[in-house]
Amino acid sequence: MIDRATARGPARVNLIGEHTDYNGGLALPFPIDAGVTVRAEAISGDEVVAVAADLGEEDRFPLRDVRGAPGWRAFVRGTVAELGAAGFAVRPARLEIAGDAPRGGGLSSSAALEVALALALLALSGEAAGVDRVALAKLCSRVENAWVGAQTGLLDQLAALVGEPGSALRIDFATLDLRPIPLDLRGHRLVVLDSGATHDLSAGEGYNERRAECDRAAAELGVRFLAEGDPAAAERLPDPLDRRAEHVLTEDGRVDEAIAALEHGDLAAVGALLDASHVSLRDLYDASVPEVEATRERLLEAGALGARMMGGGFGGGVLALFPPEAEPPAEAVPVEPGLPARLLA
Ligand code: GLA
Repeated sequence: MIDRATARGPARVNLIGEHTDYNGGLALPFPIDAGVTVRAEAISGDEVVAVAADLGEEDRFPLRDVRGAPGWRAFVRGTVAELGAAGFAVRPARLEIAGDAPRGGGLSSSAALEVALALALLALSGEAAGVDRVALAKLCSRVENAWVGAQTGLLDQLAALVGEPGSALRIDFATLDLRPIPLDLRGHRLVVLDSGATHDLSAGEGYNERRAECDRAAAELGVRFLAEGDPAAAERLPDPLDRRAEHVLTEDGRVDEAIAALEHGDLAAVGALLDASHVSLRDLYDASVPEVEATRERLLEAGALGARMMGGGFGGGVLALFPPEAEPPAEAVPVEPGLPARLLA
């Protein structure tokens, strides 16, 4: 049994396929280098002690009776509790958390934190090797749903746990079929520019409200997932359910069109699809805010072939595709597929 372990959970970028995960649709994310590192050390006693190094804050709670708490503590407590509920032998531990992905920036620092916590704790109990990563993604997603209060889907956790370097991951959320798609950008660059508007996915309006609307639309169409809905029937839904459904149904098509464009090396077409995704998220899904629009304008004026809001919306970062000859704004962060969640030596 080892007494110390360090795990790294990556943040993620989603190339295209937004608000499709909880609708049984398609997405094309990849893990990036930025993320969260958790250093875990087994301790005596019956507590978990967690230290958020960046915030200078600490949490301490009994392993056998985990209660909820606000803020970052919810992630730690939720991960410990869900691992225990799933039958893993979580040990008393001290956990030191340090991150380098912007919080609330739409890169899913929260999933990075969950998967790093989970892998570090599993390493201490000798259960990290050979763990089923899809099952672990579901477990981490339950942390968001039940402990943090964000009714998010599986996009971020799967991207963080299953992505592979050099590729984006095509995820079919209805079947959980996973397929790596080589991301050959032919000298083009993907960048993310923060809009400065932070989003809180557990906040009452916004993300959770959209998810509830999609569930209503799916129920009215008599399908398990909105992505399985009949487009003609979706058009007859009352507003705004008709527009939410149109976004989900057309966004799914754009994911496979983007994959085909990548395979043909048609980067201009990829850029146009990013734009189409953005317009749909803005006008049909009502998920944009003025700061995001202004950020996108800046990227397009700098010569991007296409740009779109990324992640849960209502703030966060904007993803843009730049051709070799154009210069992105100085604060834009270049992103490329990195390693998935892992234990460090
Ligand atoms: C957030 C959620 C994901 C997904 C995206 C939108 O990142 O955590 O589950 O729904 O928004 O595509």
